[in-house]
Amino acid sequence: MNEENNLIDNLDKNCSVSVSREKLQSPKGTHDILPDEYCYFELVRNTVEKCCKEFGFGRISTPIFENKELFQRSVGAISDIVEKELYVFKTASGKEYALKPEGTAGVVRAYIQHGMSSWPQPVQLYYIEPHFRHDRPQAGRFRQFHQFGFEVIGEIDPVLDAQIIQLANQINSDLKISNHLKLQINSLGCAECRPKYIVALKDFYFGKERSLCDSCNNRLEKNPLRLLDCKAEDCQLLSFLAPKISNFWCGECASHFTQVKEFLTELKIPFVENLSLVRGLDYYTRTVFEFWDEKDGAQNAIGGGGRYDKLIADLGGVDVPALGYAAGIERIIAHMKTAEIKIPHDQNMQIFVAPLGVEAKKKALKLLEDLRKAGIRASGALGKNSMKSQMKLADRFGASLAIIFGQIEIQDGTIIIRDMKKGSQEIVLFKDIVKIIKNKLKK
Ligand code: HAM
Repeated sequence: MNEENNLIDNLDKNCSVSVSREKLQSPKGTHDILPDEYCYFELVRNTVEKCCKEFGFGRISTPIFENKELFQRSVGAISDIVEKELYVFKTASGKEYALKPEGTAGVVRAYIQHGMSSWPQPVQLYYIEPHFRHDRPQAGRFRQFHQFGFEVIGEIDPVLDAQIIQLANQINSDLKISNHLKLQINSLGCAECRPKYIVALKDFYFGKERSLCDSCNNRLEKNPLRLLDCKAEDCQLLSFLAPKISNFWCGECASHFTQVKEFLTELKIPFVENLSLVRGLDYYTRTVFEFWDEKDGAQNAIGGGGRYDKLIADLGGVDVPALGYAAGIERIIAHMKTAEIKIPHDQNMQIFVAPLGVEAKKKALKLLEDLRKAGIRASGALGKNSMKSQMKLADRFGASLAIIFGQIEIQDGTIIIRDMKKGSQEIVLFKDIVKIIKNKLKK
């Protein structure tokens, strides 16, 4: 019995030692979004919502996890995203699910599941959601990150390709980052012409395997297109010499791409035709595009997309074409910060209420409610007793006005309004305070 107690004692000690020593941190590659950072998220989200609504998109939200098979059959079983970066978990019954690494697959699954092919076409949907990739964390690369994206399902016309790029460009421009970005476009051809290009690529690389990096050697058989965007020096040199896809486009693909470029020129959206641009997801056909940072190039593209005309049929739906785009919100915010883009301060607290003493606190709760009902952003540090600490907080909240009252003011039925910038004060009647504040904020 004693031995048993000793064992339990030791276990307790060990547990408490390990618990107290272990510093609990957010999982590697994830990050908390604190209030100062959230202002940026809100600005991006509001801009995306505004632009998407103006372009006639409806919002969709799909589950955070889906059947693993969905991503194998869409993003591609041999893509890096599925092969190396998927977060997979098994239920007790052995079913395999995966946290979504991107948004397109879920949207297409929903399009099929809800019979959206019977809706007026094209169906235009947008989303703003967290996504998960077990990537190697580094600048701009997280394991949980946020994407906004939009998909247009049901039409083939190249004008839609230009329109999707126009929408992405509009969002970049509203967020004031478009000057730092370069649009890259390419066409990956279709089921008719791409296989001929793949054969030509394999022929070109035959006998040059020793000059390729390990990843490219692995990709050569399964996914030779990816060799074109490898960052290793020797691979880049070879990709420069490799056959160009433009020599293999069938008539329809060539004409589609020419029209996309004409529409972009008409819209005055500058672009670089980049015949080495391929994407990390296997579902693309024809147009692909990315917005690259002027300095980093492909390393940290802020967004990318393209056509995926066969995906809906491949996943068991009707044979309708589609296209879309997604961008990483963290990367966009990083750009905004580098460019020193200031967040408009209209979300700051407008009024800070500083009551002194118990009676004043009682009145402050109701006063805060009245101010908020009048549409004023008001807050107060009701737990603080000293005037100095309350004024410090008012400053931190960025409030333009503070209203101060204690026992004397309550007796007199008055209240003090302090202009936080000028430091001046005035005394007004308590009963008129909401009206007076509203008028002051209008000026
Ligand atoms: P994607 O290029 O894989 O495309 O991702 C789009 C954007 O998400 C990237 O350009 C990047 O900004 C951001 N992103 C991707 N991975 C990470 C990461 N580990 N950490 C931070 N940001 C990241 C897609 O996801 C396609 N579904 C786009 C699309 C929509 N194509 C057609 N429709």
